[in-house]
Amino acid sequence: MAEVVIVENAEAAGALVAAEIVELIDGRPDAVLGLATGSTPLPVYKALREKLAGRDVSQVRGFALDEYVGLDPAHPESYRSVITREVVEPLGLDPRRIHVPNGAQETIQHAGDDYETAIEAAGGVDLQILGIGTDGHIGFNEPGSSFASRTRVKTLTVQTREDNARFFDSIDDVPKHCITQGLGTILRARHLVLLAFGEGKAQAVADAVEGPLSAILPGSAIQLHPHATVVVDEAAASRL
Ligand code: GLP
Repeated sequence: MAEVVIVENAEAAGALVAAEIVELIDGRPDAVLGLATGSTPLPVYKALREKLAGRDVSQVRGFALDEYVGLDPAHPESYRSVITREVVEPLGLDPRRIHVPNGAQETIQHAGDDYETAIEAAGGVDLQILGIGTDGHIGFNEPGSSFASRTRVKTLTVQTREDNARFFDSIDDVPKHCITQGLGTILRARHLVLLAFGEGKAQAVADAVEGPLSAILPGSAIQLHPHATVVVDEAAASRL
């Protein structure tokens, strides 16, 4: 079962997870971080700015979980842009070492395999940061995703498109497809750290931590991992 850590608020969670990441980088300067987008991991990245200041992070490597398909990488809401803006630039990481799945239509047929190959060549992910969708998705592994899945193209659910419409002018602008690390890919990371805050995530957290293992509850895949930590506030823990 995943270890559950209940913290006072998102800021405290950010400090806790950032401290773990700093320790990892201190022991291994070319550590491989699994990066997540969404609002949930932002306190981690914010805390890392302070904690990593003055340290040599030039060798740190990273792999993002997912990307929209067919969205220009220069679009401000592409996950390439988000990772650059929220992580790479503020932390001073080397952009050549930070990977995001390639959502370009022209190369999408082999983009998943290419990404898997790149993760393997890096020796795998040391610490994977995860958020969770209100429908229980991790990465963009929507309900129904196989626990053995690898990086591949998925169709976004209506609920996820509605949740993410706030980042776009209208829901019609939210892409319909994505490329995401699979649950099997995520489970190969050496340490999973799932964060969630607020009442809106309480059911998804309860399903992930205590629910039956089911493809309908993608977050429940973390129960298969030998080293998974769930960092939540009281509200997100309220249905545990
Ligand atoms: C997005 C991302 C997920 C993220 C989730 C929750 O769609 N693909 O990786 O965990 O939705 O987002 P938020 O943290 O903003 O609630």
